[in-house]
Amino acid sequence: MGPGPSDVHPRVLRAMSTPLVGHLDPSFIDIMNEVQELMRYTFRTDNKWTIPVSGTGSASMEAAIGNLVEPGDTMLVPTNGYFGGRMESMAERAGGEVVHVDAPWGEPLDPADVQDAFDEHQPDVFGFVHAETSTGVKQPDVPELTSIAHDHDALVVADTVTSLGGVEFEVDDWGIDAAYSGPQKCLSCPPGASPLTLNDRAMDKVLSREEPTRSWYLDLSLLEGYWGDDRSYHHTAPITNVYAIREALRLVAEEGIEARWARHRRVAGALKAGVEAMGLGLNPEDDYWLPSLNAVLVPDGVDAGAAIDYVLEHYDLEIAGGLGALAGDIFRVGCMGHSARPENVSFLLTALGEALEAQGADVDPEAGFAAMREALNQ
Ligand SMILES: Cc1ncc(COP(=O)(O)O)c(C=O)c1O
Repeated sequence: MGPGPSDVHPRVLRAMSTPLVGHLDPSFIDIMNEVQELMRYTFRTDNKWTIPVSGTGSASMEAAIGNLVEPGDTMLVPTNGYFGGRMESMAERAGGEVVHVDAPWGEPLDPADVQDAFDEHQPDVFGFVHAETSTGVKQPDVPELTSIAHDHDALVVADTVTSLGGVEFEVDDWGIDAAYSGPQKCLSCPPGASPLTLNDRAMDKVLSREEPTRSWYLDLSLLEGYWGDDRSYHHTAPITNVYAIREALRLVAEEGIEARWARHRRVAGALKAGVEAMGLGLNPEDDYWLPSLNAVLVPDGVDAGAAIDYVLEHYDLEIAGGLGALAGDIFRVGCMGHSARPENVSFLLTALGEALEAQGADVDPEAGFAAMREALNQ
């Protein structure tokens, strides 16, 4: 129940014990096709360029930014969380100039500020984080943000690491040009092969770059040879991770993406109702609450680190503390993928309630359970 990795589904673990075949074996090529089709389903896109990048979420992030930002380009990045900062580092390493759109940690971007930043800086690429794992904030108004960017002829890159497969995200309908994610959050799959999708407009830019991207490994114009029509060798795919993500995406399709979003809302909603009734607050306002990552305010007088250690030691349960501007102020409680189950919420309320009571905090776990049960029964 931390910020990821989430519990891996047993079917995914089982798929990972499948014997290896070669990365160009005809049976593996069928699996590649299936993974790409299931990934399109999960991203809600028809984008041809939809692939698992070898590596963790940061690899698909760097594949998106490193290929779309050319030396001399300007990229607009947010300052309202940890991962906007990582976008900035990657854009700079790609030779780009970085400009900012500001919002405090714990708040989403305001479209009016995005509009002002576009008018002032005319960026070529705009990056935003749909689900900020460091703050538990979901960025609302995404279609408004993308239309501002497109009015200024810029490409939009979305970080969906903590939302894909758990929180509604619509690549095509919302006008996203490139989106990247990670498998270890709402897809409940071990890290190692990370979803990425680009539309034709974005891929046209990649294929018409004046100089090649600085990373050979993540150069999408080369990876296209393997994941595109040719199926020719670029690097040895992480076969076992591809088996894993195929099974994880099959689970998404079996449940149905909309039903899966609804399950995350329902189960995390019960978690939210439970901690609130227990006497704790959530950091983000309800309008931008992120079901997959709940930022619970640490009550006055409580040492967050000691409470986190308590639940790990006594309940073998992982939750995390805040980062950056929110360090010490919030607990970060994940509710992702296979971990988003009512029994986990109940366990979390027991463990956290006890950890807080051990420090003399004024909390009411019984009221929390009652509210959780009511929310689950609604
Ligand atoms: C929002 C967000 N973006 C990017 C990443 C980077 O992913 P990884 O740690 O898998 O490289 C993470 C990881 O937690 C994340 O939460």
